Formats: sequence, structure tokens, C-alpha cells
Amino acid sequence: MIMDPALKFAVLLILFGFVNASPTNNDFGRCEGIVKKWALSSLDQEVKGDKHTLQDLLFFLHVPRTGGRTYFHCLLKKLYSSSLECPRSYDKLRFDPRKTKCRLLVTHDDYSMMSKLPREKTSVVTILRNPIDRVFSTYEFSVEVAARFLVHPNLTSATQMAGRLRAKTKGVSTLDIWPWKYLVPWMREDLFARRDARMRKGLRDISSNDSYNMEDVVMPLQEFINKQVAWDIVHNGATFQVAGLTNSSYLAESHEVRHCVQKFKILGDYVLQVAKKRLDNMLYVGLTENHRESAKMFGNVVGAQVISQMEASNSSVVSSNTKSEQSSSFSDSEPDINYHQNGTSDQKSSKIASTDHVEASEENMTVGKLMESYEGCISTLRKSQSHRRINSLKRISPANFSKEARLRVPQVVLEQIRSHNNLDLELYKYAQVIFAKQSEHTMEKLVTTERFPGLLNDSYGIMVWKVILLAMSIVLLLFFYLYVNARGRISKVKI
Ligand SMILES: *[C@@H]1O[C@H](CO)[C@@H](O)[C@H](O)[C@H]1NC(C)=O
Ligand SMILES: *[C@@H]1O[C@H](CO)[C@@H](O)[C@H](O)[C@H]1NC(C)=O
Ligand SMILES: *[C@@H]1O[C@H](CO)[C@@H](O)[C@H](O)[C@H]1NC(C)=O
Ligand SMILES: *[C@@H]1O[C@H](CO)[C@@H](O)[C@H](O)[C@H]1NC(C)=O
Ligand SMILES: *[C@@H]1O[C@H](CO)[C@@H](O)[C@H](O)[C@H]1NC(C)=O
Ligand SMILES: *[C@@H]1O[C@H](CO)[C@@H](O)[C@H](O)[C@H]1NC(C)=O
Ligand SMILES: *[C@@H]1O[C@H](CO)[C@@H](O)[C@H](O)[C@H]1NC(C)=O
Repeated sequence: MIMDPALKFAVLLILFGFVNASPTNNDFGRCEGIVKKWALSSLDQEVKGDKHTLQDLLFFLHVPRTGGRTYFHCLLKKLYSSSLECPRSYDKLRFDPRKTKCRLLVTHDDYSMMSKLPREKTSVVTILRNPIDRVFSTYEFSVEVAARFLVHPNLTSATQMAGRLRAKTKGVSTLDIWPWKYLVPWMREDLFARRDARMRKGLRDISSNDSYNMEDVVMPLQEFINKQVAWDIVHNGATFQVAGLTNSSYLAESHEVRHCVQKFKILGDYVLQVAKKRLDNMLYVGLTENHRESAKMFGNVVGAQVISQMEASNSSVVSSNTKSEQSSSFSDSEPDINYHQNGTSDQKSSKIASTDHVEASEENMTVGKLMESYEGCISTLRKSQSHRRINSLKRISPANFSKEARLRVPQVVLEQIRSHNNLDLELYKYAQVIFAKQSEHTMEKLVTTERFPGLLNDSYGIMVWKVILLAMSIVLLLFFYLYVNARGRISKVKI
């Protein structure tokens, strides 16, 4: 909700009046000082370069559950050969970015990562998602991954197995990666406890038919969103990540700032300001909801520049390896979910890819080719994800997560999610505005310079023109209608 400035001021006054009269007075003052100081120094550090030009290093700030993985696998991996990818740092930085020559960094780490990177030579991109859906998705994914362990007779054997698997895959597993390294073990423990309780009670029939509220089987959504862990990791997670204030931040004062903002909601405005500014300065901001358009824009804004950068530096762009890679790279190796870079399956797949496509790799990559392969790639990826999900959720049947089941979640719960994610809601609105501008900017560029002839021939271009034409005819019709009406009224008056 957008608050009237006057109203906001009044609220501020009331708040100040209130805290002045209460013992938390000092606490608020202290917190405000901390948050303000952080905000000022953060805004100060913003680089004022040409944000539209791709720099040497591309930092993909991957907010969990926004669909960033499809961009990584289906676009970025086709643009950057693995030798150009920075060592995967999904948990903690294990390399010095200033020393390596890598060009691509994809991670759930937050913006504070920038303090480790060559700021002026780094372009940042991100994708945001409607916060309500992101909370649902985080909950569902935590349950989904945790439920895979229910094949085990007890928690002890499940955790032992997980440890063995991690040792075997060598690469980075989901269970090593923030935020899953907290959410999954926690949910796993909870699932086992509920199953044990069910067995003790000899419970067979589950009474509830609302999957998001089946306490005999799985932690209900409402319980989840009100747990401390959710406060630490999930709520306002996108804003905190863009602001560099998550619970895995590299910035020492981040935890204090975050706690202050959570304690005094009004201080959230400072965080929001910083986060918005950061989005403004990003090379690209996508939206999970506008998936097709986002991917296309990614190709035209980021992809095109990566290609020309590679051509200029004579590095070869890994064209091709469209199909072979997907199938093998997503072979199941439960409970891992393929964050690992150099685990066995990826190594295998790159081998397959390179032998399969000796000729293809000599071809030059173009945005057109990139987008062409993208379609096939995401459909393969989605199929394997959905297969995995169905298999895993079987273990908590009759609970099952689906779009239809989501509709049965009571308004009270949705309202709580909204309230807990007030900053993310604001940031998402802002991202939508940026996205629209970006979209316009890209279209303009494409139309005026015709750098990518043929793009307007595709369905998207045609659709845009159709929409414009339609809008124009509607305006004309409306105008005509008003005109006729006005004349009618005028003539009536005359009579
Ligand atoms: C857990 O299951 C394993 C494998 O069946 C069994 O060996 C072990 O005794 C069990 N532990 C407990 C505490 O029940
Ligand atoms: C769920 O169960 C309640 C009673 O237990 C019933 O009133 C309701 O219609 C059921 N809803 C669906 C969708 O099955
Ligand atoms: C981050 O959150 C998790 C889950 O609540 C918690 O276990 C962990 O200690 C937190 N880390 C920091 C640095 O606060
Ligand atoms: C790129 O390769 C061409 C020949 O293939 C060479 O003439 C040129 O100097 C190279 N450019 C760079 C920047 O290495
Ligand atoms: C695999 O990744 C780890 C860390 O991400 C790195 O230390 C190791 O050298 C990598 N191994 C290979 C074969 O690339
Ligand atoms: C790729 O591009 C280079 C110039 O950048 C050109 O010389 C070469 O012929 C192109 N190769 C193909 C297969 O189009
Ligand atoms: C869960 O729902 C999906 C569709 O949303 C369905 O394909 C799947 O079979 C269901 N699983 C169970 C165990 O009912």
C-alpha cells in the first residue's frame, strides 16, 4: 500500500511520541542511528558508471525461488564456458575474486558479496518474484527436499545418509547452500517428528483436507511463516538480499541492522531506499511472473553483450550443446539438486557435449540461437523438476501442493504473509516499474538501431505492435464516442 506522505508523517510522529514515553526509547534511537549510518554508507558506495554496459564480471544475484536456475542453465551456461565461471560459491566464498579471471558469478549470496568483487568492473543482474508466491515456494521446496529423506526408517539414518551423499558428490549440494542448509535439516527433523508421533498414536486417517494445514503430516504453512527461522531467512528475503543484509551477509553490521529493521518496522524505509537504488543500477532486472518476456530481454540485454564481449576478446562462446547436456546434467542424484558445478554429472555432461558438438562449437553464437535453444532447455528442466517433486511429495501424501490447493489457504494466512513481507511487496512493485521501462528501452533500441534484424518478425514483436495498434484504435474509438456524446449533450442543451 502506498501511504500518503502526510499520513506517514503522522504515523512517524505517533511512533516517536510513543517510543519517547516508553523504555524502548533508547533502543529505537540506537537502532535508527545504526540503520541510518548503514544506509548512508551503502548509498555512498554505489558506482555511478554506465549501468547499461556489461562489465568484465557478471554477478547474478540469485534470490532463492525466483527461477534463476533456468537462466543459469538455459542461458548463461550457453554463453560462458565453464572455464569462465567463478568457482561456485553458493555457501561461502572459497576463492579470491580479485585474483581469478572468471567472468560469471551466480550465487545466493547477497549484495554484500560486492565488497569482495572489483566493484567498477562488475555488472549485477537479478530476478524478483511476487513475495507471496516466493514464500509459498520456499515452504514447498523445503518440505519437498526434506521429504526425500522419509525413505529412511529414522532421522539418524537419514542424516547419516545425507552426509555420505555429500562426501560422494564432492561438489556443492543443496544442503550446503544458504538458505537450504538451514531450512531443509530443520524441516527434515520436523517431518520425522510428525511421522513418529503419527506412528505412536497409530493414526491412519488424516482428517484435514487442506494440504497447507495438515499438522499430522507436515508443519502447516501458518506455523512455518511464524517461526523464527522464517524471520531469519524467508520474510523480506529479496529486499534483504539486494540490500546485502541477509543472515549470510559478509557485512559485519548486517545482523544488527536487520534486527533493528525487524524490530522497528518504520526503519524498513531506509532498507527499501538502498534496495531500490541498487535495482536502479543493475544491468538487468527480471520478473519471475513475466517469464517469457524476462528471458527474451535477458537474451537481448545481457546475452547480446556477452556475445560481443567474447568476440572482441577472441574467447569462444560455447554455442550448441543444447540437448545432450540437459538430460544428463539433471539426472537424479537425490537428495542433491544440482547446484554442484563439478560433481560427477556435470563433468559427464560437458564431456558428452563436447564430443557431440565438435562442429557446432565452431559456429558463432547469436541471440537468436540462444533463445531458440532456451525453449527446449526449460521444458526439459521443468519436466525433470516436476517429476522429482511429485516423487518426493508422495512421501507426505495425502498432503500435496498444487495451485488448486493454494486457493484454499485462508485469507488470514495470506494477510500474515503480506504483512511479514511488506518490504518485499514494495520492492516488487518497484521492480515491475523498472521492468516496464527496461522493456521499453530494449524495444526502442531494437527498433531504432535494428541491431538484431528479424527480432521483430517473431511473435513477441508482432504482439507488441498488435497491442500498440489495438490501444490506438481504442483511444480513437473512445475519442469518437466522447465527441459524439458531447455533441449530443450540447445539442440537447441547445434544445
Ligand atoms: C535407525 O534405523 C537404522 C536402520 O534401520 C537402525 O539400524 C537404527 O538402530 C535406528 N536407530 C534408532 C535410534 O532407532
Ligand atoms: C474439506 O473438508 C471439510 C470438512 O472436513 C468439508 O466441509 C470441505 O468441503 C472439504 N473441502 C474439500 C475441497 O474437499
Ligand atoms: C541464520 O538463520 C539460521 C536459521 O534461523 C540460524 O540457525 C543461524 O544461526 C543464523 N545465522 C546468523 C549469522 O544469524
Ligand atoms: C583475435 O584473433 C585475431 C586473429 O584470429 C588476431 O588478429 C587478433 O589480434 C586477436 N585479438 C585479440 C584481442 O587477441
Ligand atoms: C570442484 O569445486 C571445488 C570447490 O567448488 C574446488 O575446490 C575443486 O578444485 C573443484 N574440482 C574440480 C575438478 O574442478
Ligand atoms: C564467426 O565470426 C567471425 C568474425 O567474428 C567470422 O570470421 C566467422 O566466419 C564466423 N563463423 C561462422 C561459422 O559464421
Ligand atoms: C499431487 O498433485 C499432482 C498434480 O498437482 C499430481 O500429479 C500428483 O499425482 C499428486 N500426488 C499425489 C500423491 O496425489
